[in-house]
Amino acid sequence: MNKRIDENLRGAVPLAHLFLRERVKAGDRVVDATSGNGRDTLLLAQLVGEGGQVWAFDLQEDALTATREILAAHGVLGRVELVLAGHERLAEVVDGPLAAVVFNLGYLPGGDQRIITRPTTTLPALAAALGLLAPGGLLLIVIYTGHDGARAEEEAVTGWAAGLDPRAFNVWACRQPNRSTAAPYLVLVEKGKP
Ligand SMILES: C[S@@+](CC[C@H](N)C(=O)[O-])C[C@H]1O[C@@H](n2cnc3c(N)ncnc32)[C@H](O)[C@@H]1O
Repeated sequence: MNKRIDENLRGAVPLAHLFLRERVKAGDRVVDATSGNGRDTLLLAQLVGEGGQVWAFDLQEDALTATREILAAHGVLGRVELVLAGHERLAEVVDGPLAAVVFNLGYLPGGDQRIITRPTTTLPALAAALGLLAPGGLLLIVIYTGHDGARAEEEAVTGWAAGLDPRAFNVWACRQPNRSTAAPYLVLVEKGKP
């Protein structure tokens, strides 16, 4: 398990993990829309168990290699389909209903900082994710504000989330008022149950 980030709620990623641990169960189908170094994919793979299914998307082969390695080291590679494609292709690849979809926006830590998530592909992917979510399913979006292009993506994503029908979706923005306004934060969307 990722002890360093999961033993406390120091930032948006461990907070997202807290929600995942609460909601994702053995046998669930889930998506990591931005696999990066594989930390979120690993947690998802552990939570869904042997009978579950995880899809992990990334544009970069390096990201999928890092993800493959961490999954193999923890013995959970077999329950994850690694997809070398943009998450805007989610609906082509994934079968719902999904218990959770995770977006960790921005660039690959330790990688090429010019390869970032962008609103033109993030927004269609978020819409596709909502369409595949099961009732009660969670969409978790970790938003960064510091890199070039980040503020435009933040505005696009929060504007999109603010426009969701409150009768159908419960939307939260989880920020840390004792940190800089530039600190990463979590936007959460729960699909309501009929
Ligand atoms: C902040 S990192 C993800 C961190 C990761 N979740 C982890 O646990 O290490 C963002 C990732 O999004 C990827 N990315 C950028 N645009 C993408 C797209 N359209 N579809 C899928 N992944 C994308 C980048 O290559 C990068 O690896």
